[in-house]
Amino acid sequence: MKITIDGPVASGKTAVGRALARRIPARFLDTGMMYRAVTWASLQQKIDINNNADLAKLTKSLSIEVVLEDGEQVLKVDGTDITDELRDSDIESNVSKISQVGAVRHELVDQQRAIASTGDIVMVGRDIGTVVIPDADLKIYLDASIQIRAKRRHDEMRRKRQRIDLEKLVEEIKTRDNMDSNREDSPLVSAEDAVIINTDRLRIDQVVNLILESIQKS
Ligand code: DC
Repeated sequence: MKITIDGPVASGKTAVGRALARRIPARFLDTGMMYRAVTWASLQQKIDINNNADLAKLTKSLSIEVVLEDGEQVLKVDGTDITDELRDSDIESNVSKISQVGAVRHELVDQQRAIASTGDIVMVGRDIGTVVIPDADLKIYLDASIQIRAKRRHDEMRRKRQRIDLEKLVEEIKTRDNMDSNREDSPLVSAEDAVIINTDRLRIDQVVNLILESIQKS
């Protein structure tokens, strides 16, 4: 069973995907972590993020592993655990730019397909139902209003004691949505055969139950 969940920033994909994978049970992969890992490495190695050839070379050279440790997803780049750094503000502000680069996408999509081919999985991202696993058993597209998404991300950041003005966050999310939806290579778009769920008024467990109902019907 392969289930894809796509949707914009902070639509609840990761929380829902992780909970759904536990219930099925199936493996879970948040592909956004892989684009963040490439962004982290490019900043570390001071690669010009406008130089597509260097970004392509970097992506090919990296060993990106997503492993389960104590039930949590841990991301390692060349053996170094960088999970705690993936949501740093410099990664947040550069990741949409780097994920526009076709050669970066092709390399990561190949890796994601290889992971998907080895068994049951819930895979989360922007292009999973449209590009990575177009023959998935079930495709979900999660959406929510910009205000609700910004509020959720704001609450999450406050829990981690990171401070940011809510209105500034709304603007940042709009900018990233815009870049993700308007890029040339595999933009964020709902697959034609996706089940669209608006999560504005739903808790995570309610969304998971809706998806489980869809699995039974499919
Ligand atoms: O889901 P996220 O916020 O962690 O994703 C980070 C960025 O990676 C996002 O701006 C778009 C990009 N991304 C992508 O282009 N394709 C994916 N399958 C997953 C993420």
